[in-house]
Amino acid sequence: MSFTIAIDGPAAAGKGTISKEVARLFGLAHLDTGLLYRATGARRLDGMAPLEAAQALRAEDLDRDDLRSPDVARAASEVAAIPEVRTALVDFQRAFARRQGGAVLDGRDIGTVICPEAEVKLFVTASDSIRADRRYRELIGKGVDTTPEAVLADLRERDARDSARATAPLKPAADAVELDTSTMSIEEAVARACEVIRAAMQD
Ligand code: CDP
Ligand code: CDP
Repeated sequence: MSFTIAIDGPAAAGKGTISKEVARLFGLAHLDTGLLYRATGARRLDGMAPLEAAQALRAEDLDRDDLRSPDVARAASEVAAIPEVRTALVDFQRAFARRQGGAVLDGRDIGTVICPEAEVKLFVTASDSIRADRRYRELIGKGVDTTPEAVLADLRERDARDSARATAPLKPAADAVELDTSTMSIEEAVARACEVIRAAMQD
């Protein structure tokens, strides 16, 4: 059986947190597709050409300690706007999406481009200020020296670039269920996601 759950949305909306928990609860494999772009961006910052970096991604590139840094996030969003880079990463993501036993993928274009036939599509959002506050706390917790203002500016810049690009822009699929987590705890957001998934499993 293959059953795909596509979870898209802007930066720090809660996609990864919800995806991991949903994958655990339903016994599905999980792929954070942002890591592919972050690893490509990190190799770009090391001096590699973006397309070469994407084509030659290795498993250990996805384990680098610096992938969560703001500099890598920006580089990820820059390389993600290059159509050839996206093409180089498609096959791996599609194969993962249709693997036996089912999968959860989170990113920006899972429901629109990678797996438009996904059984469940969620578009997770939260207000800019709440997303920035969540990401700020996360970064400070990891010892990154930053300010709430810098985090908000970074998120807005990245969301604007991700939404405006010509290829696979950030946008909800026509049949996606929107989940605004602004006033939800993680538990509430996961519970709402589970309701949508259970309903789709009964269809
Ligand atoms: O994957 P994405 O960038 O969309 O977001 P995330 O990494 O899952 O969540 C960003 C931060 O917000 C994490 O520290 C989560 O614990 C937190 N979060 C939250 O406080 N409330 C939620 N409803 C969802 C996430
Ligand atoms: O965790 P957060 O939402 O901040 O970022 P991420 O999901 O790790 O993605 C980092 C960057 O990769 C995004 O800003 C996008 O530019 C790009 N990305 C993409 O273009 N398509 C995806 N499916 C996933 C990420």
